[in-house]
Amino acid sequence: TASLKLGIAGLGTVGSGVVRLIEENGTVLAERTGRPLVVSAVSARDRRKDRGLSLEGVRWYDDPLAMAAEEDLDIIVELVGGSDGIALDIVRTALEQGKSVVTANKAMMAHHGTELARLAESNQAALAYEAAVAGGIPAIKVLREGLAANQFVRIHGILNGTCNYILSTMRDTGREFGEVLAEAQKLGYAEADPSFDVDGIDAAHKLALLTALAFGTEVDFDSIQMEGIRSISSMDIAYAEELGYRIKLLGMARRKNGQIEQRVHPCMVPLDNPLSQVDGVFNAVLAEGDFSGPIMIEGAGAGEGPTASAVVADLIDIARGLKLPPFAVPADKLERAVPLESDAH
Ligand code: NDP
Ligand code: HSE
Repeated sequence: TASLKLGIAGLGTVGSGVVRLIEENGTVLAERTGRPLVVSAVSARDRRKDRGLSLEGVRWYDDPLAMAAEEDLDIIVELVGGSDGIALDIVRTALEQGKSVVTANKAMMAHHGTELARLAESNQAALAYEAAVAGGIPAIKVLREGLAANQFVRIHGILNGTCNYILSTMRDTGREFGEVLAEAQKLGYAEADPSFDVDGIDAAHKLALLTALAFGTEVDFDSIQMEGIRSISSMDIAYAEELGYRIKLLGMARRKNGQIEQRVHPCMVPLDNPLSQVDGVFNAVLAEGDFSGPIMIEGAGAGEGPTASAVVADLIDIARGLKLPPFAVPADKLERAVPLESDAH
């Protein structure tokens, strides 16, 4: 059977992980799908950088847009990042040509997800973004497929690995914010601009996507109430602990009387709530369906291996011929999201 030719834009933490995963598990993946995934082309900024990857026989593009337009590639994998700019151009170019796209870019999806889903559907292309929400956790597949029979009551989640790592490490070691953030950056967890992590923006990007999926509304990042973790000290964390609480940055969404409430802020989570026990770089998504009841999934929310696992899961779906609507309902049927002003904080 024909192989699927991939063009990968971006060879940083996630892109390198994807190349390594396909190299190591390629045989098993081909058995599972019947269609070998072949990295045919790659693009990044610096051709000479040693990435510890063997890219023999793989075409290199300095210009990722030229790669996205190549006719012989079947799928474009966008792992550059950024809500606009080159990432968005790459994805639009590929979709306009009917090429399927896999991306880990929550910033782009949170700002342009509705438009890109429409573009994908009108060109009969897949647009898959499992890695954009909660790293290695298959959160999108669980909401869109596993819980597809439900109407959702609420979604709660720990949606940023960097923040959860910082808060847990500050609690365990008493070290201060700046030092632990630098460590999270070294580990490859943080965004290129880590203020996206610590100010709650990245968690809000992910929440906007989960909300659209769960409630069938257009992606609405702008109405999210957002507060990050910069002002939290080791002392706050220790006091909370004494009182029987853990401080967690949570994303929360619910639908009420046809309106949608979305917020991201630090919360005092009681120790008997399972979200309080999610530590380190782990994320968790707690989804409550009307028939399923609450379901919580937990796992690594950032980092090379877990994120690559989610990217390649999307590639496998495409190899198997699955072309699901990116937001569970066809993009032209997504409702306009009406924000609910919240006073609960
Ligand atoms: P990195 O900064 O590690 O990698 C970005 C890559 O993009 C680099 O290889 C860089 O090239 C390349 N790049 C940047 N600008 C251009 C350009 N103009 N043309 C071609 N290539 C370019 O980012 P990550 O791998 O961490 O993140 C990638 C995406 O995945 C982002 O959207 C991020 O939000 C998302 N993500 C990241 C996770 C993580 O744990 N890191 C988890 C989940 C999602 P060069 O290497 O030459 O500089
Ligand atoms: N910077 C993000 C985080 C990467 O720390 O969760 C995963 O999306």
